[in-house]
Amino acid sequence: MRTQVVIIGSGPSGLLLGQLLGKAGIDNVIIDRVDRDYILGRIRAGVLEVGMVSMMDQAGAGERMHKEGLVHDGFDLSFSGRRHRINLKNLTGTSVMVYGQTELTRDLMDHREADGGATVYNAANVTPHDFDGEKPYVTYEKDGVTHRIDCDFIAGCDGFHGVCRASVQDKGIQNYEKVYPFGWLGILADVPPVHHELIYANHARGFALCSQRSLTRSRYYVQVPLTDKVEEWSDDAFWDEIRSRLPVDVAEAMVTGSSIEKSIAPLRSFVAEPLRFGRLFLVGDAGHIVPPTGAKGLNLAASDVHYLFEGLQGFYGEKSIAGIDAYSARALARIWKAERFSWSMTTLMHRFPAEGEFGQKVQEAELDYLSSSNAAQTAMAENYVGLPY
Ligand code: FAD
Ligand code: DHB
Repeated sequence: MRTQVVIIGSGPSGLLLGQLLGKAGIDNVIIDRVDRDYILGRIRAGVLEVGMVSMMDQAGAGERMHKEGLVHDGFDLSFSGRRHRINLKNLTGTSVMVYGQTELTRDLMDHREADGGATVYNAANVTPHDFDGEKPYVTYEKDGVTHRIDCDFIAGCDGFHGVCRASVQDKGIQNYEKVYPFGWLGILADVPPVHHELIYANHARGFALCSQRSLTRSRYYVQVPLTDKVEEWSDDAFWDEIRSRLPVDVAEAMVTGSSIEKSIAPLRSFVAEPLRFGRLFLVGDAGHIVPPTGAKGLNLAASDVHYLFEGLQGFYGEKSIAGIDAYSARALARIWKAERFSWSMTTLMHRFPAEGEFGQKVQEAELDYLSSSNAAQTAMAENYVGLPY
């Protein structure tokens, strides 16, 4: 079999790229090692930058997002027992959209299916070959049979633990990494959100976040030590803990209920350079990870796709390789700014055991300064809504 672009990974980056390429008349096949239901069972990001929203429109998959997504013009920072609203709309002229990664992924999958895009699920031993030369190909096994797809390019959209980055480890790749000494315990529950916007809380007991997926579904997080096990956290213990980290009025207003999902995610900053190896590209989490605090992971995947799609369009349309040559540098310039923002918001909002009470006091001073400085709030808001592509 032959196609123009093989996309390894059917997460948001692979699906978005596939949809854009399909619309531009560029043939592509998506291969994933798991199936559709497994992918849709993963509860992940919830906040979309304006750039991601327009990419969904460009992919022709934005209709339900506009109908069901919630436009947020601001969010609250909670610290020292009080709250301060960051007015995104006034400070930047833009807003963000609250729409879960699960729904966004479902929309992209549904459109791909309706358009007849080729997707192989449950593929084992997916392997990229010969991407240093002009004739790359990908092999995989399915139902005991080995398949081969010849192509022009391979897009590595296979997440942090995927095969693509692993297959370039001996090709001069450089990894930059920071691992944080805590994780996020997240809970999803069919209860109305405690507030109409998100609340990011700095507290002596640790960070907490009140987020949401809809007017009836809430997503809440608390910072936990890496040694904690999700099975050890009952729903009641979670609700008590998050309430203890929020201002009294918020804690009292919180509606609790049974969790429909509960998980612990470790926090990490990671960037691989470069993101291109001949005819293989690393895209989204395959090339970089941010700690979730600034809600940038999914949004960075979208900007990578934007740069790669432009490069591939230039190659097939104008027979130019300039966009492909520029992919890694263009993507990395935006990635590092989002890495900086995610690291700084993580550092500002979490309890770092090694920093002690001095660290907590410095954080509170910075938050107090932020709440009185239009310049500082503008810088935070500009990064939160997303830097330009
Ligand atoms: P992925 O979504 O990881 O998709 C990769 C796909 O590749 C998967 O479907 C996988 O099955 C497939 N794959 C992997 N290996 C192979 C292989 N060998 N062969 C074939 N297929 C393969 N971001 C936020 O902005 N906010 C959040 O709150 C947030 N929470 C998160 C919580 C968790 C637990 C995790 C892991 C991430 C979270 N993120 C969050 C980050 C965000 O979800 C990711 O940035 C986003 O999913 C990246 O999309 P992607 O398509 O690049 O990678
Ligand atoms: C969510 C996750 C984030 O990391 C964030 O900053 C905001 C919202 C969420 O899952 O809803």
